[in-house]
Amino acid sequence: MTNGPSTALVQAGTIRPEDFGNHITRRLSSMKGQYLDQTAYERMLGQEDSLLYEVYELLRPEKEGELLSGLSIVHPGKVGNEYFMTKGHFHEVLETAEIYLCLSGRGMMVMETPEGDWSVKELTPGVSLYVPPRWAHRSVNTGASEDLVTYFIYPAHAGHDYGTIETRGFRKLVTEGADGPQIIDNPKWVEAAV
Ligand code: F6R
Ligand code: ZN
Repeated sequence: MTNGPSTALVQAGTIRPEDFGNHITRRLSSMKGQYLDQTAYERMLGQEDSLLYEVYELLRPEKEGELLSGLSIVHPGKVGNEYFMTKGHFHEVLETAEIYLCLSGRGMMVMETPEGDWSVKELTPGVSLYVPPRWAHRSVNTGASEDLVTYFIYPAHAGHDYGTIETRGFRKLVTEGADGPQIIDNPKWVEAAV
């Protein structure tokens, strides 16, 4: 990591891993319990631990004043009727926001607050999405064969709370319906204990 200015090519399809200090890969096995169709999940996992998404991030100190930025790439595919998606998280410092810019592909950002509000926004190339403080977020690739590529920026001290979503899930899921992607209630969503 350098302390001075740094650059990275963020055009879709022009990813130079050497520009980014951090490369995270997430496979099917890391999504246990997140997909609705458990039978389809186990069947797929039995065949191959598929690569669902990748994150390339510029390494910066994780402290207030700094920003973290990079590319999130969700590959196309489905588990049962449910599209490949990120784990999703709240920021550990709940009062921190994030900006996403969709570079290529097609998808949706599923969001919710601890207070019970929810929102699902479409992601198409050129769309910039502001995820306000307190909103958990998960990106879903609804495309048939293309990667969903987004560029993200968030405060470096935000941290990630994955545990809440792992235990409760999101209130809404995106599945493939007869007319394309549809937003459905998550029947497995668990209300937080008071
Ligand atoms: C960072 C952020 C994105 C995600 C990335 C992967 O706060 O929201 O960079 O980290 O899209 O998703 P998760 O982190 O949910 O596995
Ligand atoms: Zn985030």
